Amino acid sequence: MVTGGSRGIGKTIALDLARRGANIAFNYLRSYDAAAQTEKEIKKLGVDCLSIKAHVGNPDKIKDLFNRIEEKYGQLDILVNNAATGVQRNAIDLDAKHWDWTMSVNARGPWLCSIEAARLMKNGGCIVNISSLGSRRVLPYYFSVGTSKATLEAITKYLAVELAPLNIRVNAISGGYVETDAFDSFPNKEDMVAATETTITTRSLNPQDLANAVAFLCSNESEMIRGHILVVDGGVTLTA
Ligand SMILES: NC(=O)c1ccc[n+]([C@@H]2O[C@H](COP(=O)([O-])OP(=O)(O)OC[C@H]3O[C@@H](n4cnc5c(N)ncnc54)[C@H](OP(=O)(O)O)[C@@H]3O)[C@@H](O)[C@H]2O)c1
Repeated sequence: MVTGGSRGIGKTIALDLARRGANIAFNYLRSYDAAAQTEKEIKKLGVDCLSIKAHVGNPDKIKDLFNRIEEKYGQLDILVNNAATGVQRNAIDLDAKHWDWTMSVNARGPWLCSIEAARLMKNGGCIVNISSLGSRRVLPYYFSVGTSKATLEAITKYLAVELAPLNIRVNAISGGYVETDAFDSFPNKEDMVAATETTITTRSLNPQDLANAVAFLCSNESEMIRGHILVVDGGVTLTA
């Protein structure tokens, strides 16, 4: 199950897990056409796919979402909490309602999705939360998202401990800049696009780099990695 699998990084993660042989469920909020296209691409890879419209900021919709997965598959092995939103303003310009909206989708949503997923992980499982560098660094117009991602990283550690007895592993990936539609809502979009070029390697970061890290954290090889925040940023934070 990949939340926000219709577009961007979530779509790449969903396709990558499908290529590795997993049946895929994903949800989306508004992009019906993108979701239909993604579902088609996943099925072409020879696995099953369930695409559901569900707002992860709404606890009742989260329950319905996982009930649908249970009805169709009976159980779940992997949850990737990827869906995210945000109001791109500095702290001084943010309203309480913007804070509540962002937290409900980016932090409360992953917590509640994880609890619902754990119920279906009858043979154990893996949860990977997608965070970003703004959880620890102060970025322009990123106050609501950055603080929600810091919360998500704390949730990762708490759930790693609380769900360990159920044989469920919980980790997070903190990604560097990857150009997606999400950049369109930032007033400093051009700076963000330029920042994608600032890795210490010979290329920029891409969604597949994050998908590769998800696959690793869901593999047997990472069994003893728990509550870890894996930075996948091409080395950007080493020098900046
Ligand atoms: N882009 C970056 O540079 C970057 C860097 C580090 C980490 N990340 C993280 O990576 C993840 C994906 O980012 P992205 O850039 O791929 O974002 P994106 O292109 O904006 O895609 C967001 C996805 O989440 C879904 N979504 C948004 N709000 C939702 C809600 N309330 N309920 C259900 N689904 C919802 C969207 O569905 P619809 O298609 O229906 O709108 C879409 O599938 C996020 O957690 C983001 O913080 C991104």
